[in-house]
Amino acid sequence: METMMTSEISLSHAEYKKIARLVYDRFGIHLGDKKESLVSNRLRKVVQAGGFSSFEKYYNHLVNDRSGKALDVLINKISTNLTFFGREAEHFSYLMETVIPGLLSTDTFRREKKLRIWCAGCSTGEEAYTLSIAAREGLARAHVEMDYGILATDISGRALSVAEKALYKAENVEKTNTAWIRKYYSKEGADHYRVKDEIREKVLFRRLNLMRPDFPFKNKFHVIFCRNVMIYFDQKTRKQLTVKFHKHLADGGFLFIGHSESLGRDNAYFEYMKPAVYKRSAV
Ligand SMILES: C[S@@+](CC[C@H](N)C(=O)[O-])C[C@H]1O[C@@H](n2cnc3c(N)ncnc32)[C@H](O)[C@@H]1O
Repeated sequence: METMMTSEISLSHAEYKKIARLVYDRFGIHLGDKKESLVSNRLRKVVQAGGFSSFEKYYNHLVNDRSGKALDVLINKISTNLTFFGREAEHFSYLMETVIPGLLSTDTFRREKKLRIWCAGCSTGEEAYTLSIAAREGLARAHVEMDYGILATDISGRALSVAEKALYKAENVEKTNTAWIRKYYSKEGADHYRVKDEIREKVLFRRLNLMRPDFPFKNKFHVIFCRNVMIYFDQKTRKQLTVKFHKHLADGGFLFIGHSESLGRDNAYFEYMKPAVYKRSAV
């Protein structure tokens, strides 16, 4: 009995292939051949807690569960949500010092009521709140009283629920600049900070799968940040997503990606500006 209760369910190569294919088809995440033990470790508890006697049975449940809940649990386990304050910080300076003044120099943008930014793959919210601060600061430095809004989306419900709380460990917030901490965060207890309401209320968190064939947005964005997300996708999925970003960006809008990612310098849809920053081309 003891042996039965503690015996571990193991993941066969064929089962891994099926789960990896499902993750790719539904979420675009390309696990490749080297993630077998990661998938096995991350999912074993789910398989056991669900009472499945094998990964095969668990897989059948995943594909047959119409509610989508099983897939939610799967993606919460599989997706890598690593993010932190101050990540690739020069992007925020470029947004404030170059992108916002550049947009403001165009007639079409000056006629807009709002600067619209999409943070795609926002994970636990650090990047989205930093964008909210940078947009506010960028507009104030340009002496423009324009409203702004950040749409922050992710596939992981678990990550989004952390983001919505806007509460972060002090040691993590302290990676951002001290003037911003004083202005835009309030201390909560001995070792946490909360993002102030004026910054928080400009960010709208929503669950959205970037693999959707199309996105349900009425208005175009002026800036899209999609950093360290496409790294998990294969070439074909990246290309498709890039075309969708192009469609949802306003003329002259900007796309920021992670520093370890590239769209290539001869991309028909985007003009290379500097490492990991691209401007929408008129095609
Ligand atoms: C490594 S984090 C990057 C977070 C942040 N952008 C940054 O650079 O710090 C990647 C995020 O992409 C999200 N993601 C992965 N596949 C996705 C998909 N198909 N649709 C939406 N979000 C996805 C993950 O849930 C995760 O939170």
